[in-house]
Amino acid sequence: MNRVFIKTYGCQMNERDSEAVGALLRARGYCIVASEEEADVVLLNTCSVRDQAEQKALGKAGRLLRAKRTAAANGTQAPLLGIIGCMAQNKGHALVDSLPDLDLIVGTQKFHQVPTHLDHIMESLRGLGPRPSTIIDIAEEEGSQNAINGHAPGRRVSAFVSVMQGCDMHCSYCIVPHTRGAERSRRMEDIVAEVRALAAAGTREVTLLGQIVNRYGAKEFRSSGGKSPFAQLLEKVHAVEGVERVRFTSPHPTAFRRDIVECFRDLPKLCEHIHLPVQSGSDRMLRAMRRPYTRERFLRTVDALRDACPQMCFSTDIIVGFPGETDADFAETLALFDEVRFDMAFIFKYSTRSGTAAAALGDTVPREVKEARNNMLLERLGAFSLARNQSLVGTEQEVLVEGRARRGEGVFMGRNRGNRKVLFPGTADMEGRLLPVRISRATTTVVFGDVVKH
Ligand code: SAH
Ligand code: SF4
Ligand code: F3S
Repeated sequence: MNRVFIKTYGCQMNERDSEAVGALLRARGYCIVASEEEADVVLLNTCSVRDQAEQKALGKAGRLLRAKRTAAANGTQAPLLGIIGCMAQNKGHALVDSLPDLDLIVGTQKFHQVPTHLDHIMESLRGLGPRPSTIIDIAEEEGSQNAINGHAPGRRVSAFVSVMQGCDMHCSYCIVPHTRGAERSRRMEDIVAEVRALAAAGTREVTLLGQIVNRYGAKEFRSSGGKSPFAQLLEKVHAVEGVERVRFTSPHPTAFRRDIVECFRDLPKLCEHIHLPVQSGSDRMLRAMRRPYTRERFLRTVDALRDACPQMCFSTDIIVGFPGETDADFAETLALFDEVRFDMAFIFKYSTRSGTAAAALGDTVPREVKEARNNMLLERLGAFSLARNQSLVGTEQEVLVEGRARRGEGVFMGRNRGNRKVLFPGTADMEGRLLPVRISRATTTVVFGDVVKH
């Protein structure tokens, strides 16, 4: 009764949290398994950012609970079910109304309690205590760091490192400040120690994670020599021996100052890809979204980054159909999209989140209009992405080899510095190495090539 399967929805923070919860559980004698069929316990680490994300996890939970009831009726045992993460934090006790047979609900600030709660349930199953009804632990902890920073065992060529939690921005559409709490940063020494340990275990690339990662330490630490705490952190992580690549996500256009632009010029391990969510190209919409920058300011940041680093690849997030978005507003988003020529983008149809400021504005843009705007952006994105990939054909790209590709015998996968997926014939000894790959063919989503032997 100690096999746990963790299914992750949502963003990279959630992926990182799932890994850390897994490490805590392992330390307590649980075994993390790769599928629900092998599991005694299923944990869904959930996302609340859009209704669709919640519905996905709720649908899954509903199916698992039905299976559990059927099993109970047949006298067999189906896995226990826990909902953890953002939707647990967001919906809390209300989850039990729709899913009364849940065993466990744990919010984002209580991840460290997951093993203790599971122990408790397991003991009751062994007859060592009363069977608890659904355990709910979503209390917010003042100043909590939710200090769970363990990693999965074995080598990870590329690893996420969480540098901060929470968000204080309160964009009008967004539930994250509610699900993740106030912004708080980890100590630089702790982050660097974690990166050192990863490097010693074979990690070659680290991605620093935060909701607004460039605001790292803005509350806790001082600027020094014109360098913000985030720029200082980048320098320290960059200096760790064994780490060959550094990335971060997501920065906010507002706090994107000169010192960070200069890091791209001065720190060779910092890869030339940046995910810079713009949300809209219309100043009117940006104001309504409470994004404190203008279209012009965003474009100047893009220019500054391209000046510092001509090869820079850009990706972004865009919301279509925010309440009150007109054709004219959307035309400005399209124009901005064309001007920057984003290499990658996540386009989201606006989804009302109750409890946010924008919820009071209603959901005024019809579904078909959102759909049409979404498709127009996707079409352009496909063209830009293909053009960028085709421009790589014939060039030699530095690729960090992550491992076997999911498909194809002897095919390996890695990424170039611009974060493009590269597939090539390889061997297991290549894993974790930086190798030159000559690109021979491109599609919209990946490029193909062969390792160059110098
Ligand atoms: N902290 C990150 C974003 C995290 S949420 C940042 O600000 O950069 C990821 C993306 O989800 C956001 O950038 C936004 O584009 C989208 N999103 C957030 N709330 C949304 C909503 N209510 N409807 C649609 N998309 C939303
Ligand atoms: Fe949400 Fe805005 Fe914070 Fe990003 S910056 S997590 S979009 S409130
Ligand atoms: Fe991430 Fe979704 Fe939570 S985007 S922070 S998992 S609400």
